[in-house]
Amino acid sequence: MNLRNLVAERLEAALEASLGEPASAIVQPASKREFGDYQANGVMGAAKRSRRNPRELAETVLKQADLLDVAEKTEIAGPGFINITLSEDFLAGLLNRSGALLTPTSKPETIVIDYSSPNLAKEMHVGHLRSTIIGDAMARVLTALGHRVIRQNHVGDWGTQFGMLITYLNETGSDSDLLADLESFYRQAKARFDADPEFAERSRQSVVSLQAGDPEIRTQWRRFIDISLSHCQNTYERLGVLLTPDDVQAESAYNDDLPQVVSDLEAQGLLRDSEGARCVFLDGSANEFKGKGGEPLPVIVQKSDGGYLYATTDLAAVRHRARVLKADRVIYLTDARQALHFRQIFAVAEKAGFSRPQMRLEHHPFGAMLGKDGKPFKTRAGSVVKLTELLDEAQARALDIVNAKSPELDETQRREIARVIGIGAVKYADLSKNRTSDYVFDWDQMLALEGNTAPYLLYAYTRIKSIFRRGEIDETKLDMPVSVADPAEHALAVQLLRFQETLEQVAEEGFPHFLCAFLFDLATQFMRFYEACPILSADSHSRGSRLQLCRHTADTLKAGLGLLGIETVERM
Ligand code: ARG
Repeated sequence: MNLRNLVAERLEAALEASLGEPASAIVQPASKREFGDYQANGVMGAAKRSRRNPRELAETVLKQADLLDVAEKTEIAGPGFINITLSEDFLAGLLNRSGALLTPTSKPETIVIDYSSPNLAKEMHVGHLRSTIIGDAMARVLTALGHRVIRQNHVGDWGTQFGMLITYLNETGSDSDLLADLESFYRQAKARFDADPEFAERSRQSVVSLQAGDPEIRTQWRRFIDISLSHCQNTYERLGVLLTPDDVQAESAYNDDLPQVVSDLEAQGLLRDSEGARCVFLDGSANEFKGKGGEPLPVIVQKSDGGYLYATTDLAAVRHRARVLKADRVIYLTDARQALHFRQIFAVAEKAGFSRPQMRLEHHPFGAMLGKDGKPFKTRAGSVVKLTELLDEAQARALDIVNAKSPELDETQRREIARVIGIGAVKYADLSKNRTSDYVFDWDQMLALEGNTAPYLLYAYTRIKSIFRRGEIDETKLDMPVSVADPAEHALAVQLLRFQETLEQVAEEGFPHFLCAFLFDLATQFMRFYEACPILSADSHSRGSRLQLCRHTADTLKAGLGLLGIETVERM
């Protein structure tokens, strides 16, 4: 149940009754404990619009609002804020309901998430981490809320580089170099391409033959793509993301649609020639489709030599997602530098009728990954950091921590814990930042046991598990009801019940860091509760209730981390 919406609905019913028209109550979690649990800020705006005194309106609203079963205290603060403290019985009642942690949405949608989407010419590097991890968290959250999620890995497999790579693969004849290290295979091919004009010419020829459908070249290309995709799949499995080979819907899959995209645009009179290229010019209201000097920026869909572009493929992809996949919403995760590209694609798609009328097309951009020096994240030698190497280092660093903290565990256990902490730390560090900003990759910060980190949350989880172990309690068999008395219990109960509204917000706005902040607050509230309220030594009634709160917290931490794609451990 969405607690915030419940409070908002009750207040909005009263607002509407007082005003004679609907108004938003603007309910938010209280900014300070002493304001209660929720605060409503909408009365001031509503009063202004209807020329009423805000404090009087707030009083009328509170008199009329049906909050008896929900709130134990309401008050008006300042010019007309309404503060609400939920009642203990109401909170306990919600926690004592049996059943799932989450209520699915009443309006399930078909949602396409376009994420990860690396170019297959090279090995995945840290640049792909953000799209992969954030996209995967979105896929999990939307699925948990009952939406039908279709993952689309729009891998780049169709550019001119592939001519060079298959020519080189052909020449060397063996897959083994390529299997071992795609990155250096690419470098060798490139060196060959730059040094030998005859090789370069053969490479260009093979791109032409590839796109024309020459069966032999297609076979060679397929071999290359398969190897490159298997590199990606290894990384996905290691990262614990949901993407499988079935989710790959590559650029090449749209090849046969591209002439149709262009002729559809043509038929609608949307195309103009510009220096031999076929272009769509968008007017747009503001300067959204203009260059720095105010000149119109065309969307090129076909080059003068007849070749198609990244944009053409994306238009075909929108059409496919609308017509074949029947998407209600499409989410694209790429770095912010592609923002103009997507604004253009969405505008052209809408003009040309490639999208469906109510379909939402959303680009969720993210910032760059930076080193501690504030420059793009690179190896010491200045090359891109390969994902596999990054994850190796994460696990090695985590193992040092586990070895120091828990030498009593056997080695296999320590390695397994280090794997979960290391991978979790890398993922959480990314997910916990607002994705729109650049993000500084910092090993010490992400592996710290204090603060908003994966190790802190995993530790909080194991701490609860150790309470059950110490008390020899089977937490699946707890049957005492929760009662909420102490302020620390109250705060923990409210936080637990905010899970639903947090996930709904993540789903709507596309910011997984809200879920991270929620989990961090939950762990913090739990630690306060743990300090303030004895558990195993309490009288049997309080003990039973507090153990239930422990169980709820552990379940919610595990579920929340799970929705971020992060595993948990029972001890660390
Ligand atoms: N392959 C592209 C890149 O690496 C990202 C593709 C994103 N998805 C899309 N439909 N354009 O930059």
